[in-house]
Amino acid sequence: MDTVCAVPFPRRPTPDPDAAFNRRDWLKLGAAGAAGLVLVPSRAWAHPGNELRLPPLWAGGHLTTAPANLEIWPGTITPALAINGVSPGPTLRLRPGERLATTVVNQLAGENLVLHWHGLLAPAAFDGHPGQAVAPGQSYAVDIPIRQAPATCWYHAHTQGATASQVYRGLAGLLLIEDPDRDAALGLPTGDRDVPLVLRDWKSNTTSSLTYAPTMFEHMWGYLGNTMLVNGTPQAWFAVDQGVWRFRLLNACNARVLRLGFSDDRTFHVIGSDAGLTGLVEPVTAFDLAPGQRAEILVSFAGLPVGGAVVLRSLAFPIVAPLAGPAGPRQGDALDILTFHVDRAGGPTALPSSLPGPVLTDPAESRRTRTFNLGVVNATLTINGLTYDANRVDFSVPAGEVEIWEFVNGTTNYHPMHAHGAHFRVLTRNGVAAVLPADRGWRDTVLVYPSETVRVAVRFGGRAGLFVLHCHNLEHEHEMMQNFSVTTPTPPRLESRREGPDLVVSWPAPADGWGLETSADLRTWSAAATPPLRVGTRFEWRAAATGAARFYRLVLE
Ligand code: C2O
Ligand code: CU
Ligand code: CU
Repeated sequence: MDTVCAVPFPRRPTPDPDAAFNRRDWLKLGAAGAAGLVLVPSRAWAHPGNELRLPPLWAGGHLTTAPANLEIWPGTITPALAINGVSPGPTLRLRPGERLATTVVNQLAGENLVLHWHGLLAPAAFDGHPGQAVAPGQSYAVDIPIRQAPATCWYHAHTQGATASQVYRGLAGLLLIEDPDRDAALGLPTGDRDVPLVLRDWKSNTTSSLTYAPTMFEHMWGYLGNTMLVNGTPQAWFAVDQGVWRFRLLNACNARVLRLGFSDDRTFHVIGSDAGLTGLVEPVTAFDLAPGQRAEILVSFAGLPVGGAVVLRSLAFPIVAPLAGPAGPRQGDALDILTFHVDRAGGPTALPSSLPGPVLTDPAESRRTRTFNLGVVNATLTINGLTYDANRVDFSVPAGEVEIWEFVNGTTNYHPMHAHGAHFRVLTRNGVAAVLPADRGWRDTVLVYPSETVRVAVRFGGRAGLFVLHCHNLEHEHEMMQNFSVTTPTPPRLESRREGPDLVVSWPAPADGWGLETSADLRTWSAAATPPLRVGTRFEWRAAATGAARFYRLVLE
């Protein structure tokens, strides 16, 4: 077993030993100093590297993007871009039924900006289409009702022509849709045992900078770093007990595919993907997480002694190409991510044996199949032979529709394909039923491996408007992107019937995104108090019949 306290990268000389203290230790020292005691902070001394930082929680109000000097390496200033002064930005936590209401303020120096809420089924007006970017000095309001299951989502810059550069320099953060009561009832770790991990690579050995300056080669293959930051922490470590912990992983790298596993090959369990729980408690020793994708895992540190450690890594994997190219970081490089130090005994050991999962689209509901050929034409990356054109709408789809999409990768590179305004279910890889842990549940991003063909069943939300489909290798995004328009559908036909004392109003599934409203006078309408239930092929809404006249209608939520 490889359980040494690994020092993943050469330790940077710390000019002042006090700089090795983290903020928490300073606070402890301050308190002790006041009491006239001498207290030696232990943990910061005990482990090389830096204690894992946790992004601050958003307390409401504006989200302001601006240049900032961040202390990523203790004692060193790194110019970056920040949201409310930090990168990753503050974690937005919302519950189903709440609204994401904020104002996005662009205080960047000479750069346009728009933020996209990756994973949210947002109205098109607030989705963060690249064309919605505002000039420096401007701001815009966002108001998005959260009408989806708990999930690990994120937000990031999506500015026309600048997504890669702005995300690399720091404009990204987590957006968690949470239901702690549900999680507690399911026996899932919550609170301090539910730990977000924003994973990204950067080029740190030589410059410690977040400068974005890709070469021609990197424009094609991706801007890859040589070391990892976890929640903005280099050489990160995190102290755990021997129990079961839940980690929410986000691959926020511009281009790096992460093959996540542990230094001792321990088995852990994947329970969630992009849009929430998958319904599986799936044992793995490694799985791939592509840029843009999220996963939730349960890890037990049982079997490690107090004082032991284990390292979360991106494991090496072979690549098809490039066979030659500049020396430097490559796709498939092994990288250490985060060292877990077991510093105390005990902890809850129970793993849930089963978890509730989502009802996924039945591909038989689809009405058409679209093929997206991912290729290279004249050293430019293309979808169906075309690069992105902001003024071209590539296809239209009625809201609530189900379609089969087929991604055919004619290149030797990795393309994590992502759709806004829709979730999908991964069906097959090269014609064979998709069984990777990273294919489970509702997804919004699917990794298409070199030369592979992947089929997914896409369910479009109820929201009409313009959305994009693109490769989430951010160096590819500005070329491998298409606009699609979700068109307003006619509402499904309502039917009603009496069942004893009840009135049952129903309409055909799968039409998504419709909400039922009622009125007594056809003038004032209000949302039905209880949500409809899916019963077989229909949605049903039931209420006690009052005898008074009531009117019902479906509206797009
Ligand atoms: Cu996370 Cu359109 O992107
Ligand atoms: Cu997105
Ligand atoms: Cu790509």
